[in-house]
Amino acid sequence: MITKLPLPFSIPLSALVLVTLIFGISTSTLADTTPVNSTQEGELLFKKHCTSCHGINGTGSIGLPLSKPSVIQSMTNDYIHKTIRSGRPGRLMPAFSQLSDDDVEAITQFMRTWGEVKLITDTAETVIADPAKGKLLYTAHCQQCHGKQLQGSDEGTGVTFSRERKLAIMAPALNNPGFQDAISDHALLHIIQQGREGTPMLAYKERLSHTDTHHLISYIRSQKRTLATPKTGNESFTIIVDSPHSFDETVKLIQETVRSHNFRVFPNRFLEQGLTDEFSVNKRQIIIRFCNFNKLYAALKIEPRIGTLLPCKITIVENEDGSVQMVYTHVEAVSKIFNNDLLAEAFKEIEESYSDIIDEVTL
Ligand code: HEC
Ligand code: HEC
Repeated sequence: MITKLPLPFSIPLSALVLVTLIFGISTSTLADTTPVNSTQEGELLFKKHCTSCHGINGTGSIGLPLSKPSVIQSMTNDYIHKTIRSGRPGRLMPAFSQLSDDDVEAITQFMRTWGEVKLITDTAETVIADPAKGKLLYTAHCQQCHGKQLQGSDEGTGVTFSRERKLAIMAPALNNPGFQDAISDHALLHIIQQGREGTPMLAYKERLSHTDTHHLISYIRSQKRTLATPKTGNESFTIIVDSPHSFDETVKLIQETVRSHNFRVFPNRFLEQGLTDEFSVNKRQIIIRFCNFNKLYAALKIEPRIGTLLPCKITIVENEDGSVQMVYTHVEAVSKIFNNDLLAEAFKEIEESYSDIIDEVTL
């Protein structure tokens, strides 16, 4: 959390007070986590294609958290590659066919900066796995979250912007062909036994024997769905616009403009807040959160799953070279994947306010 600071009294008591309060602190203690070459490239690509769902640092929002140690350690490079390429057809995770192999590798390298692969070693003993036994185990232990057909839950991501809440993470689909083709049996074994600390996915190593775990895996494998060709997302879900102003000015201008568009502005958060200790928080990345409750509730009523995807934030980032960028959700592109005309309509209005705000700030 941000500690007590001297109040910047020189600043007029306006829309900016909160921002300035936080900002007044100091910007000299910047965390320097600059990766090199392809990781840097990968970071940009991740920002562009993945953050709108997985959060800027992979902390998760409507997409699963990716950067938690328990998660990243269970993901091999091959798994990440295949997941990016094939997505999760029928779920929200798009297939990124438009990225080059180098792009996919760069994103993977960037994600690897969050942690190495650390799969547990599988014992050498051979198991004659029985899917029928696996089914009973699945019903007893897994079904409540991953669904009767292994289809995953369709609710979760319970974040509202009116108060801080723990993110309720949606249980992913286990029958999904994208998932099944990407994951190895070894990694499945690892995830089931180790769980994913910091998520609702518990470790089953004390509850299920090695043999039972193999029964379970054979059942999961037997349930793979076949689906039509994955949807290809050609559009980026994130829009990045260069700001002609300094970082502080940009923050100030966005705050003012957002208010002039009748949105309510909430206290800002630093992107990394809560992830790192307060001294290493990078204060040159800030999220401005705002909302028009009528629009928000209208959209939520149509599609409760949009959760944190809701276009209620603009992130302002200062790059190493001093350039400033504004990052926000490409509302229209996102609304398309829900295939819901009503939602598309609701989002259109929000998209318009967005572009107006950005236009005014960049003028
Ligand atoms: C439109 C939202 C969206 C976008 C954009 C998106 N993802 Fe996902 N991603 C998801 C969802 C939702 C899931 C969980 C799938 C499920 O619910 O079955 C997921 C799952 C994943 C997983 C598997 C996580 C795990 O725990 O095994 C990886 C890896 C991943 N995404 C990486 C990426 C990368 C890299 C990008 C950018 C190139 C990206 N995603 C873009 C929504 C998204
Ligand atoms: C309390 C709810 C809950 C239960 C019970 C549960 N899971 Fe999960 N599971 C989750 C959630 C939530 C995730 C996503 C965690 C994350 O962020 O990576 C998950 C992730 C997984 C993954 C990784 C999938 C992916 O796309 O990355 C596998 C595999 C999995 N669970 C298998 C199982 C099996 C097998 C069982 C039963 C032995 C089980 N789970 C029981 C909630 C649950």
